[in-house]
Amino acid sequence: MPNYTFSVNGNTVTVDAPADLSLLWALRDKLGIKGPKYGCGIDVCKACTSHLDGEAINPCVVPVAEVEGREVTTIEGLADGANLHPVQQAWLDQDVAQCGYCQPGQIMAAVALLKRTSNPTEAEIDAIENVCRCGSYFRIRQAIKQAAANM
Ligand code: FES
Ligand code: FES
Repeated sequence: MPNYTFSVNGNTVTVDAPADLSLLWALRDKLGIKGPKYGCGIDVCKACTSHLDGEAINPCVVPVAEVEGREVTTIEGLADGANLHPVQQAWLDQDVAQCGYCQPGQIMAAVALLKRTSNPTEAEIDAIENVCRCGSYFRIRQAIKQAAANM
């Protein structure tokens, strides 16, 4: 099988995988990075949301061959050592998570939004399509607003 070399959370990694293996399974099964969650596998639930070159993507539908030489960030790469990212801190302060399954994807989507705009509108927050079957949407919204104010 071919090798693909790319960066994950600042570390250079090489995986031996078929070209059409999704980045999600390369991360989870080949590299043991379990933050990005599997929900649907078809770009609908967004439980797997991570960043590729700083923008939100859903790795369940990105072939590993497409990330050769590029920079992947998962929830594991957000904190700066012991210092949480402001979005992570806001999530804790607002006690957002219920079961937690969707939360890595929710946080990565929120970080990407706040990179694009420092003071998102209600409509821009609404445009985040990550599904939470526990219905934590109100607290997600509050946490995004807190993070925006603190960043
Ligand atoms: S697992 Fe549902 S969008 Fe990736
Ligand atoms: S916290 Fe349970 S799915 Fe979102």
